[in-house]
Amino acid sequence: MSKFTSLHEFIMDRQAEFPFASGELSRLLNDIALASKIVSRDVRRAGLVDHILGAQGETNIQGEDQQKLDVVADEQFIKMFQFGGEVCGIASEENDDFMAFENEEAKNGKYVVLFDPLDGSSNIDVNVSIGTIFSIYRRISPDGTKATLADMLQKGTRQVAAGYVLYGSSTMLVYSTGHGVNGFTLDPSIGEFCLSHPAMKMPETSRLYSMNEGNIDICHQGIQDYIKYCQGEEKETGRPYSGRYIGSLVADFHRSLIKGGIYIYPAVPSAPKGKLRLLYECNPLAMIAEQAGGIATTGYERIMEVEPTELHQRVPYIVGSKKMVQQVLDLIQKADLK
Ligand code: AHG
Ligand code: MN
Ligand code: MN
Repeated sequence: MSKFTSLHEFIMDRQAEFPFASGELSRLLNDIALASKIVSRDVRRAGLVDHILGAQGETNIQGEDQQKLDVVADEQFIKMFQFGGEVCGIASEENDDFMAFENEEAKNGKYVVLFDPLDGSSNIDVNVSIGTIFSIYRRISPDGTKATLADMLQKGTRQVAAGYVLYGSSTMLVYSTGHGVNGFTLDPSIGEFCLSHPAMKMPETSRLYSMNEGNIDICHQGIQDYIKYCQGEEKETGRPYSGRYIGSLVADFHRSLIKGGIYIYPAVPSAPKGKLRLLYECNPLAMIAEQAGGIATTGYERIMEVEPTELHQRVPYIVGSKKMVQQVLDLIQKADLK
């Protein structure tokens, strides 16, 4: 039997690996863990508290209904970032514009955080897994000044850390600082995240595919060809594959990370650039995927190389096991040549 490792201990032990290693990134990661415990508690209680459930009656900039828990989670994380001392500004999926903090504590913060406070929020009132996704960058504007839009619009390759929290049958925090991926499970009895999934690696292939198949006839021919391949029958390769689509990107991604698989959200006529947001969803999960041996692409470009031009930018997204994503890329290329 070995002693368990808490997230806090783990972060401290690994501090030397961090770029700049001043302890600030460690504190920021610990702040994220603390905020996510609070949000986890609120998520767990949501079904009990009538006034937390249901749409708040407002729509966010992307025209989607905001659920109350979206707002609760957004505010919780913002508070943690604003007063934690490490962050000078943030951008969140729930807010139209980025925020440059002007309070004393934030003035010397060296980092910006971009995040999706609650991903999969349409699943809240049916008690299905949801999550938080975050992405951390070093600011590029001078220290001590106000954070700028340019701090927020950095390429995914510049992320210094990224991760997600999954509020599933248990709460898990998975993150990377560019030295592999580690997963921690919250033990609610002691209120600690414990290292449960060290050095996570995404299997190179699997027989699970994940896509909203309502979009099948209206997406790129190469993707249609891939889904048809998955559905085809072939004894040697064990096809047909199984379709798994939760509708919470974090949960679908987490399954692919552990069991292998592919997640596809293509461009469709109603969302010609795709539905998922580059900065809050695609880049952080792309960093985790790549660090675990997987691939994240638009179909034409590595996700983390996409040059961001606006905060709420959307991109087509294909992420998952290396061999599966490679096969889709080949089929896209083939279809384009026809
Ligand atoms: P969010 O709840 O943060 O707006 O994100 C929802 C996203 C993602 O989590 C999910 O995979 C996708 O939207 C589902 O979209 P469809 O309902 O179009 O399949
Ligand atoms: Mn989301
Ligand atoms: Mn969201």
